[in-house]
Amino acid sequence: MMRSFNSILLSLLLARLSIGSPILPRDDDDGGEHGCKAKYVAVFSVDGLHDSDLDRWLALGPSNISELLETGYRYTDAYTTGPSDSFPGSLAQYTGANPRTTGVWYDDTYDRTYFAPSSGCKGAPGAEVLYDESIDYNNALLFSGGINPANLPQTIIGGKCTNIYPHMRTRVNTAFEVVVEAGFKTAYTDKHPAYDIMRGPSGKGLSSGYFPEIAAVGGTVEDIIAYDQYHVNAWLDWIDGKDIANAEGSIDGKAPTLFGGNFQAVSVGQKTSGYVAGSLAFTPELLKAMKFVDASLGLITQKLKSKGMLQDTLIIIASKHGQAPIDPTKYGKVDPVAVTNATGVTVDFQTSDDIALIFLHDHADTAKAAANLAAKKSALKIDDIIYGDRLVDMGFGNPLQDPAVPDIIVKPIEGIIYTTSTKKIAEHGGLSDDDRHVACFVSNPNLHKKTYNRQIYTTQVAPTILKALGINPEGLQGVKAEGTKALPGFHDLQ
Ligand SMILES: *[C@@H]1O[C@H](CO)[C@@H](O)[C@H](O)[C@H]1NC(C)=O
Ligand SMILES: *[C@@H]1O[C@H](CO)[C@@H](O)[C@H](O)[C@H]1NC(C)=O
Repeated sequence: MMRSFNSILLSLLLARLSIGSPILPRDDDDGGEHGCKAKYVAVFSVDGLHDSDLDRWLALGPSNISELLETGYRYTDAYTTGPSDSFPGSLAQYTGANPRTTGVWYDDTYDRTYFAPSSGCKGAPGAEVLYDESIDYNNALLFSGGINPANLPQTIIGGKCTNIYPHMRTRVNTAFEVVVEAGFKTAYTDKHPAYDIMRGPSGKGLSSGYFPEIAAVGGTVEDIIAYDQYHVNAWLDWIDGKDIANAEGSIDGKAPTLFGGNFQAVSVGQKTSGYVAGSLAFTPELLKAMKFVDASLGLITQKLKSKGMLQDTLIIIASKHGQAPIDPTKYGKVDPVAVTNATGVTVDFQTSDDIALIFLHDHADTAKAAANLAAKKSALKIDDIIYGDRLVDMGFGNPLQDPAVPDIIVKPIEGIIYTTSTKKIAEHGGLSDDDRHVACFVSNPNLHKKTYNRQIYTTQVAPTILKALGINPEGLQGVKAEGTKALPGFHDLQ
């Protein structure tokens, strides 16, 4: 298939987001590899894991990850979405698309056509769209009762004021939906019931969804390892064809054709402990998280082997996001309200992390607000202010036409977080290399070990999943819209 001009332009422009990107190689160069067909695809996001973390880990000696790579393809220059929040980062891997196509920018953002929860769609449109633990019935409980519709933003659909569940927010279908439509089972686990978003617009993408609430547990690496163990147990049970307590839906006694989920321990290790200044080695807490993830992947491989499924399973490890900064000496923070104030105009909403997404009350104020921000560039530790034609040209969509697109994106200098929190030493969500340059590899006993050094995007995971299963990737609307290709090594898979 020919890539559309727009998609080529988009990849070239997105490539500009990452510093020092190599020149894009020939798109169809598969290096003589043919990937592999699979009956099952298992996709694991090790949240926070950078490509450089893989090097750090592999340098420590033989491991389950090094064994997976013995029969795998490693992609050393893989980038997640910008913004690199968990929501767009997750959707990328299952839709093949970026925020301008999915409409999903962040787990906490804004829509100019929405109304506040339980508002009855009264008053002027424009409301926060918040999909985290705060929408649960009771987020103090690991099994929180799921999503309370009274906490959902609303909008008018067909003349009716409607609660918008996370899955209704996605504008394009997910690989889970395509696999279910093809008659197979799917299962997914992640950190909040809000990951309902993975079900896709039909709401039917997951045969089983398992969403223990991470906000109900403590914040140390040990707490999160104990939490992640619920996800690991789910994967092991699913491979056995068993449903698990507190999951929504059922796999009906069959190992799911597509299953996946995330590990949170590395991300929390990075946020709370991170890397040693100078050497940039893992701190002991982060190392503990790495060991847990590696051992868990070992358990999954052992289970697949014991069920005779390993040969038939394509394992994909791709992080939804990285974490910035890696180098602790780069860390700094700025009060997000100082950014809002500096615009000098009325701001309706601002998403603040190691990025600021600014929704102005009046689009006509955009140039003025951007100039005011530029005047305080050094105090606000700003690297780049993206707005107007450049925002459109870079592939972010058009705020004048799309109610989910911010008017201004502020990219701080790498390592700077717009926060008042004193708990975190790193964050993700932004556009920096530390945020976006993630670990990505695939493994199956039938693959010949190979390293691809060209730049790729985690959106390419989605068409790879379907190709490996022998399902047409063009069934994904996001793949069609953006011309997303499968990962290198899988283009020639028939
Ligand atoms: C791989 O994982 C298994 C199961 O957790 C563990 O027992 C083993 O030590 C790991 N292998 C290596 C080489 O670390
Ligand atoms: C933002 O502006 C308000 C109103 O002028 C002021 O009270 C507040 O201190 C400012 N905050 C920051 C962080 O600049």
